[in-house]
Parts: sequence; structure tokens; C-alpha cells
Amino acid sequence: MASVDVVFSPAEPLPRADCWLVVDLLRASTTIVAFFERGGRCLLPAAAVDEARDLKRRLPGRWLLMGERNALPPEGFDLGNSPLELASVDMTAFDGAVMTTTNGTRALLAAAERGGEIRVACARNARAAAVRAAAFRSVAVFCAGLEGRPALDDTACAGLLVDRLLERGPRELGDGAQMALSLFRDCRCSLADLVSMSRHGRRLKTLGLEADLLYCCETDRSDWGARLERCGGLMRLLPER
Ligand code: MLT
Repeated sequence: MASVDVVFSPAEPLPRADCWLVVDLLRASTTIVAFFERGGRCLLPAAAVDEARDLKRRLPGRWLLMGERNALPPEGFDLGNSPLELASVDMTAFDGAVMTTTNGTRALLAAAERGGEIRVACARNARAAAVRAAAFRSVAVFCAGLEGRPALDDTACAGLLVDRLLERGPRELGDGAQMALSLFRDCRCSLADLVSMSRHGRRLKTLGLEADLLYCCETDRSDWGARLERCGGLMRLLPER
């Protein structure tokens, strides 16, 4: 029988999976989906700020540098990690973007080392991501977490993804999938209210970024996705629709 499980943070040993759904609800995976929705062509995830700067310098053509540390854009970056901020840029004028975030891009790169198909998922593309993942026998939702530990926001989104995957047919649920699903289905409040209780949700509010949080918590609004693949020595994300 097909299966689904949830990994709550990169600190856990990663199981084998045919398809990974990498989630950093606040905000990297939501920003990545928004980037492709807005016409972005290619996104190169980098683990470190200096590595991202260096990569942009070496690439031919026009590339944006985007991302965050402590939720704010590092010095010299063109953009931060806000999905709403992307509306101010004509993405089609660029070859793509190099992106580094504290947890999200690192989780993507960690999943890449494990093999299997790697997709970016968030609340906004939850159903579309689940429809694509349903073609695979074993699916693992990989939460980026916060500083190596589980995060309420990502876990709630993982529960939403498991819920949407079950719409496509029965699956054996690992314990992680059961836990995330129970959180999502039984929380008796909206996703935005639940996520507002998370440590990172509270931090975004303190920084005046509540609009981002609310945007990230809207469900099933987008058919766009992103697929990670190796290209030469680099990993790159390409759009899926
Ligand atoms: C991360 O990767 O840690 C996040 O996306 C942080 C943020 O909200 O900017």
C-alpha cells in the first residue's frame, strides 16, 4: 500500500522516500511558489549567505539575490524572503534568482542528498502538490523546522498536506503523519491562528510581517509547484504547473 510520513526537522534521520515534499511554511516554501507564479524561471538554493553572493557573482546573465537571516534580507541582497515583496519585481526580466534562507533552503539541500523526487510544498499549493505527489508510492513531508527543531507552523502545514494526499486515495500513515494530521484536523482554529502561536509566527508579527503570515496560511490558492534537480554541480528549482 502507498504510504506517507512526516519528518519534523532536519535533525531526524531521513527515511527513504520516492517523493519529498519540503515545507517551510513561514516563509521559504511559500516564497518559492510565489516566485514561480510571478514568472521566475529558475531558482538556485544556497546554504550560506556568502555562498549565495559568490554564486550570483559567477553566474552569467541577470540574477536576483534573495533570502534572509533572522527574517530580514542580508546586506546587498535584492530581495528578502517575503512572498508579498515579490510583487514589486518583474521576474521575467531575470534569468532567475539565488536564494538562501536560514532553514528552508538548507532543508531542500538536505533532502537532495537523500535522493528521490523533491518538490516544494506550502499551504497555498497544498492540493496541487498532493495531486503531483500522489503518483508516488512513498511520500515524505520534510519540515524545515526552526533551527534544527520541530516548528508548529511547518507541522500544521504537513498535516494539511497529509490531509490533501488522503483525498487522492488511502495511504498507510507513519506516526509522524498521524501526529501532523491530528494537529491540523483537531486544532479547532484556523491555520492562521494556529501558525500565529508558533515561535516564528510570533517573530514575524513582531517585525511587522503579519501580512506575510496571513498570505502563507491561505490554502489551495495556487497550482504552481517547484521541482529540485541537479544541473552540473548545482541544484536548481524549476517551475511545475
Ligand atoms: C527560513 O528559511 O528560516 C524562513 O523562511 C525564515 C523567514 O521567514 O524568512
